[in-house]
Amino acid sequence: MCGIVGYIGTKKASPILINGLLKLEYRGYDSAGISTIEKYGVSNLKNKGRVANLYDLEGINDLEGTVGIAHTRWATHGKPSKENSHPHLDNSNTFAVVHNGIIENYSDLRKFLSDNGYIFLSQTDTEVIPNLIHYYFSKDTNNDNKKFLRAVNSACKDLKGSFAIEVISKLYPDVMIVARKDSPLVIGTTETENYISSDIPAILSFTKNFYLLNDNEFVEVYKDKVVFYDNDLSIINKPIKNIDWDASAAEKDGYEDFMLKEIYEQPNTVRETIGSRIKKGEKCAFDDLELSKEYLSSINKIYIVACGTAMHAGLASKKTFEELTNIPVEVDIASEFRYRNPLINSKTLVIFISQSGETADTIAALKLSRSKGAKTIAVSNVIGSSITREADYTIYTHAGPEIAVASTKAYTSQVVLLDILAIHFAEILGSYDTKLLENLKNDILELPTKIDKVLENIDIVKDLANKVYTEKDMYFLGRGIDYTVALEASLKLKEISYIHSDAYAAGELKHGPIALIENGVTVIGILTDKNLVEKSISNIQEVITRGAKTFIISNQDVNNKNFDYVLNIPDTNAFISPILSIIPLQLFAYYISKNKGLDVDKPRNLAKSVTVE
Ligand code: G6P
Repeated sequence: MCGIVGYIGTKKASPILINGLLKLEYRGYDSAGISTIEKYGVSNLKNKGRVANLYDLEGINDLEGTVGIAHTRWATHGKPSKENSHPHLDNSNTFAVVHNGIIENYSDLRKFLSDNGYIFLSQTDTEVIPNLIHYYFSKDTNNDNKKFLRAVNSACKDLKGSFAIEVISKLYPDVMIVARKDSPLVIGTTETENYISSDIPAILSFTKNFYLLNDNEFVEVYKDKVVFYDNDLSIINKPIKNIDWDASAAEKDGYEDFMLKEIYEQPNTVRETIGSRIKKGEKCAFDDLELSKEYLSSINKIYIVACGTAMHAGLASKKTFEELTNIPVEVDIASEFRYRNPLINSKTLVIFISQSGETADTIAALKLSRSKGAKTIAVSNVIGSSITREADYTIYTHAGPEIAVASTKAYTSQVVLLDILAIHFAEILGSYDTKLLENLKNDILELPTKIDKVLENIDIVKDLANKVYTEKDMYFLGRGIDYTVALEASLKLKEISYIHSDAYAAGELKHGPIALIENGVTVIGILTDKNLVEKSISNIQEVITRGAKTFIISNQDVNNKNFDYVLNIPDTNAFISPILSIIPLQLFAYYISKNKGLDVDKPRNLAKSVTVE
């Protein structure tokens, strides 16, 4: 995830652009840059680091241009560095581009352009765009005033993946071209100035009148007019939408809290995590991983090691790894693992999961594993973080910056990424039915749409949170993969509501925990695994008999079973059900915390990144 801003008007563009970027920093903050149209051509000032560092760049105060584009980056392809920062220019410095999204076919395009004499200065997927624009521009013999637009349109037709782009050119100092597909982009408009941004709040202080772009629309933005085109460059009419929001909500994208925003981002973040790793009809692809069949056949154990929510993501993927690869998997807490002299050797593969990549216990466990000869894979959300520098291989979740202390979108991205990794291993090993793997991949591709459905149907969650927020104890039950979700749901509730809660494997209930059940206590059941649902229902009947009030999350028909509340979620493959079933429970914890008037984003005593043991 990245943030982009553009300005075309009568004022100096650079302060407006930097101010806009600061409001978009929640979308990424590892590098930033700006290009304006100056008398000498297109400026390009950028570097790694936070947006505020732009103020220190040499030449920033000399920018006079009234047309400009800017970008704050959350690295996906290529580490944070000056070269990889946006804007990117074509080889002739004629076009400058900022881009939010992922170009899945960038390596093919890079090869095509290289074969045509273009050279690349960065490792990014984005750099193909300005060069493709230049390629089409130089091939076009028609020198009419639509030549710039045609070149951008032709280039975009070659792109697979997602993009929101802004393009300026030294040859066309009065216009900016913008376009989008599967990445957000809006235009705030006035009579003499136009503002472009990844989200509305970043430019809300300038105007309340917006054009909201749809996929595959192309726009010529002048200072005093905006012209919209469809994919075939026929003009379309676009109504202005008046947005009556409070500008102070900027950093949170209009949401009350970062946590709520991050929960609602999940259709998109899961989509970003899947990225180009799954393509219909092809084997899963992990660019940065080189594990041979010979190596994978030689290992006799996989450890998954992490802390907190990341450890729960490991638990949720254990079944997928074991069933798909036939390799035994043990999931461990990093602070335990590092001190228990675990049995590790060169036949052990250890996967470390850490959103921040900076958790001290996880890093120590990683160093220990390497010292004992194991191969290591880091799963992280933060490019270049410590864990990624220590591990043999790194795979990124690409979920964008997670600000709220309680992890939500990082968890769903970790689970989906680990499940895809398990499929990748199975494809290398040939250890699982290929038809079933294809079905699972298709089910993963449908997840973003299904998460949207879950998020549309949360009235029961709000209603129940409103009724139970004063309670002292709650219990979460599930079997198999649903038990792993119970653990994560219980952690979410504890972290942000300060209500005591516990999660139990439903079958274990009668071995002790059932003694805690009394009249009126809330028990939350997660019932998604078809093979285990009937067993779990019986366990939940036992708590109903003892007076518990029950809330059930299920993708099966469990109505008419005397449950007090049932929330139906879309059905999916049992391996990936946690990605859907956790979402209502993240919201349950969130609304309880809100009802209690607590600071949802910064719960007491907790830190986002625990860099001490
Ligand atoms: C802290 C955070 C949790 C997180 C855990 C592991 O406890 O509050 O939300 O799950 O650390 O963090 P990591 O960055 O390693 O995933």
